[in-house]
Formats: sequence, C-alpha cells, structure tokens
Amino acid sequence: MARSALLNVMVQAALKAGKSLARDFGEVQNLQVSLKGPGDYVSQADRKSEKIVKDELMKARPTYGYLGEETEGEIKGTDGAHRWIVDPLDGTTNFLHGIPMFAVSIGLERNGEMVAGVIYNPATDELYTAEKGGGAYVNDRRLRVSSRRSLSDCVIGTGIPHLGRGQHGKYLIQLRHVMGEVAGVRRMGSAALDLAYVAAGRMDGFWEEGLSAWDIAAGIVMIREAGGFVSNLSGGTDILESGSILAGNEHTHKALLDVANRPIPKA
Ligand code: IPD
Ligand code: CA
Ligand code: CA
Ligand code: CA
Repeated sequence: MARSALLNVMVQAALKAGKSLARDFGEVQNLQVSLKGPGDYVSQADRKSEKIVKDELMKARPTYGYLGEETEGEIKGTDGAHRWIVDPLDGTTNFLHGIPMFAVSIGLERNGEMVAGVIYNPATDELYTAEKGGGAYVNDRRLRVSSRRSLSDCVIGTGIPHLGRGQHGKYLIQLRHVMGEVAGVRRMGSAALDLAYVAAGRMDGFWEEGLSAWDIAAGIVMIREAGGFVSNLSGGTDILESGSILAGNEHTHKALLDVANRPIPKA
C-alpha cells in the first residue's frame, strides 16, 4: 500500500491527535467539559486534538482552506481548490462516558469532491485511510464493503438525534420501517466510525440526518473506495451541505433508500 505525500500528512496529524486523545481518555474530571447546546458536549480534549490537527495540516499546506468543528468559522485558503474538513473528536459523548468508540476524522476536498480521508480510533489503534483511485484500508488491510443482498441478513447502523435536536418524530418513523426489515440495528455514537465500519463490511449500511460536514467528509471517500455507495437520504449527491447520509453496498444502499423513505403509515 503506497500512500501519497498528502495522505501521509493526514495520517501523521491523525496519529498525533489520537495520542493526545488517548492520554485524555478516562480523565474527564480534568477536561473542562462544557455544553454547546442541550446534549451537545465539548471538552478540552476536543480542543487540544483540533489544535494538533490544524497545526499539522496548515504547516504542510498553508494555502488550503480549513473547516474544523472546534474552530470558529471557516478559514478560506488562497488555494481555492482545496479544503481540509476536520472532526478532531467524533464521538465526544462516548469519550466522556469512557466508551472507546471515538475517532479523529480528517477529509480532503478538491474542487468540491472528497478525495482523501483518514479516520483514526486511538482506543483500538485502527487507522482507516482512503484516497480517490487508491482504495481504502484499515492499517495495512484493504477494505471492501459487505456483499450481503437481503436486508433481512443485514446489520444497519444509524445515529439517533440527541436531546435538543429536532426531528425525533420523523426519525422514529424511519427506524420503525428499517427495524422491521433488517437483522439488527446499531447506534455506535460516532458517525465517522459508522462509515468506516460500513467500508470495512462490518455493518451493511448506515443512515443519519442532521450531521455536519466534519462528521462525514472522510467517511464518504472511505465508502466509495471500498466499493460502496453513498448519497443523501433522498438519493441525491448533496451530502456534505445537507448533513444527510445513507450508505451501503450496491444492494443495501438501494434497499435502505426505499425502506427509509417509506411514507408515514396512516393511523
Ligand atoms: C456526533 C457523532 C454522533 C452523531 C452526532 C454527531 P461529535 O459528533 O458523530 O454519532 O450522531 O450527530 O454530532 O459531536 O461527537 O463530534
Ligand atoms: Ca460535537
Ligand atoms: Ca462529529
Ligand atoms: Ca467532534
């Protein structure tokens, strides 16, 4: 597996930030936790990780634009074609509860298209990487989405809107439709890892709405490079801006799209 210089920059940034997260994991009492809104936590660990990633990326490519969850506003680059999209800690709620399902997620966009992604879970030391045209990997192993066809054999991931997020009613209808068709539904608490798990064939599909670009940027290229399909919940290509995502293999993507969009049953 040969990585480009750019992908190496992303990998180094993710590993360095991951080390910082690993040191802070389990130290919640020292982490200055605050709320951005109901159910929406941020801590010193998120901010430290973001500083590490941002410094590494900006040092390597100072002209690129930068969008990060814990950086106020977007930094417009002088190079109009490239933009880093960063979630320094995806799965903050898990992290603060001692649940080892969290990740650093770094995506690179070129002319509006996701071309590289790195997702790193320091708790399991799993490093997911993908580059457009170069395949997707976990550590040194090539990734491939699952080949299951029938939803009744499938495990499907999702994200449940948290306290303070609207759309609970709409979500429950989607869930009711999906759970009636599949072998099992999982809610793991990190959208970046959810997408990496679909790319790895561990889960057969995933859907969530109300996300931000940094939750899913790296995962989009990961899924595509693992042979999977990804769209928004209406089947359209506007994923990053809409924050709506549905992913799977060629069979499950289509089937899940159908099921998640079934009309509300009449009472
Ligand atoms: C959250 C996670 C979670 C998803 C939330 C996101 P954060 O990101 O990805 O799985 O359901 O909507 O906000 O805040 O932990 O980076
Ligand atoms: Ca957050
Ligand atoms: Ca996130
Ligand atoms: Ca985050």
